[in-house]
Amino acid sequence: MSGECTVAAPANIAFIKYWGATDLEQAIPCNASISMTLRECVSRTTVRALGAGVADEVWHATDTGLRAADGAFRDRALAHLARLRAWAGTDRGLAVATRNSFPADAGIASSAAGFAALTVATLGALEIDATPQELSILARRSGSGSASRSVMGGYVRWPDGDDAEAPARQLAPAAHWDLRDVVVLVQTGAKGVSSLDGHRRAASSPHYERRQTLTPGRLATVSDAIAARDLDRLGPVIEEDAIELHLIAMSSNPAIFYWCPATLRVLEAVRQMRRRGIEAWSTMDAGANVHVICSPAAEEAVAAELEELDGVYGIIRDGVGEGPQAIVGSLFDGAAS
Ligand code: PMV
Repeated sequence: MSGECTVAAPANIAFIKYWGATDLEQAIPCNASISMTLRECVSRTTVRALGAGVADEVWHATDTGLRAADGAFRDRALAHLARLRAWAGTDRGLAVATRNSFPADAGIASSAAGFAALTVATLGALEIDATPQELSILARRSGSGSASRSVMGGYVRWPDGDDAEAPARQLAPAAHWDLRDVVVLVQTGAKGVSSLDGHRRAASSPHYERRQTLTPGRLATVSDAIAARDLDRLGPVIEEDAIELHLIAMSSNPAIFYWCPATLRVLEAVRQMRRRGIEAWSTMDAGANVHVICSPAAEEAVAAELEELDGVYGIIRDGVGEGPQAIVGSLFDGAAS
């Protein structure tokens, strides 16, 4: 009776953003979104199934051993474990140890990776088979809508079709198009306002309704551009949609400013690169860091140039990935690869 499962689940970068929900607790979105699943920015999570009725445990795995989780992170993880247990029809306790390969809460979809990993590893530990669609819906019920996309690899749309409660659907596998994401780190600390608060305030912006009218056209363009592997078509739309998310955040009530001065420096440098013929396009989630989407051929030049900018303290060279993978080892033993 000692099931244990360790999973590495990736973050994703949204090309068309989820922003605003009709039900925040269960992340029922006001608009559909499309993202690229990443491969380097991952959350590694081990879940161990305990005996019936045993209390759940949530730990951070660190270089110096396990540290008990606390605060909102712990509360959200425990609530999700209870939800998964109810779905699985078991009363077994669950122990969780988790660690991200990237800074949490800084606009790298840490909640997406974390809740996708927690969902997949929990069902693995309980030895319950679930379809990708079931995993997507379960991950979404964590309250992190973007987690519903991270359970699938490649290019993913969520929700599939017009039903806001539908799961995500893979538009194309990772092998279809090798796109890169140069993640430019300008801020490591947790952002001031969570994406949950951002969703909550979105509709108070006068620009929100207008975006809702533009989103269907953008989704169609992004789907077509992915199908045709056409970066010239994809780029302008994803940059426009990201800027508009931040326009909405800045004009929400109360206003939210995720950017810092170096964010603008990166955005300008990417525009200048394009004038010199380098195809690279910016996007940002709810944070100050910038994701620069480009081809493998442009990646080296993009990373080298952006790394030198004032206020940039690091670069993560990421790209499209395959989705959650079971991995060897246990974070309870201090190792998993
Ligand atoms: O899944 P949440 O609640 O962390 O919201 C994600 C919000 C954005 O990252 C800004 C957009 C998106 O679609 O990932």
